[in-house]
Amino acid sequence: LASSPLFSGLGQGELAALARTAQRLEYEPDEVIFHMNSLGDGLYLLASGRVKVVVPSPEGKEVILATLGPGAFFGEMSLIDDEPRSASVVAQLPSVVYRVHRQDFARFLESSPSVARALLRELSRRLRRANAHMENLVSMDVLGRLARYLMELAREHGEVLGNGWVAVRRPTHHDIAAAIGTTRETVTRLMSELESRGLVMVEGKMAYIREETLRREGV
Ligand code: CMP
Repeated sequence: LASSPLFSGLGQGELAALARTAQRLEYEPDEVIFHMNSLGDGLYLLASGRVKVVVPSPEGKEVILATLGPGAFFGEMSLIDDEPRSASVVAQLPSVVYRVHRQDFARFLESSPSVARALLRELSRRLRRANAHMENLVSMDVLGRLARYLMELAREHGEVLGNGWVAVRRPTHHDIAAAIGTTRETVTRLMSELESRGLVMVEGKMAYIREETLRREGV
């Protein structure tokens, strides 16, 4: 809890109180943490793993709005506006989360300006990202969107290896397609193209991305 930017401003006593109320939960890949339109029971903190925020498209396909990594929180929107869950959240890798009950979260939000500030900062960051994503969808071709997606994946979830390579647990082609608005077949074709150009390398569960080169070449 202490490593989450949301609660980093809390003192030891407050953190201990929060830890006593939080519930630890584990999820396997593809397990649903909560469903869209359900009632907001609490705020979730991701301790380890990776989760995806998903909504169905009109044709019933999955659309991925965001992917969150360790330290991120989710499920705050329903607690703030008292509306049902705006999206489903599903584990993408084996994940450990802590659930803070809505009343406990409301108490911390009201008693601690640092929690409120951290929350606003993150909501603002997410709006910027959503704006950038919308702009990409409208103005870029699929290869450009894939390159952007891979750069972001490397920056937010990757581990820098040196020599320009960044290692990251590889999302499925289905999930990449659901994040950039294309088909799995197109992702498979374009990933091969990027691999043959030496910009990406896939090996087992890992992908290796030349983040700098992707950005420089603008693909
Ligand atoms: P809530 O609406 O309670 O449940 C779904 C959650 O997904 C939501 O709260 C946010 O925590 C998260 N979420 C929704 N949209 C986005 C987005 N564009 N970027 C990151 N997280 C999001």
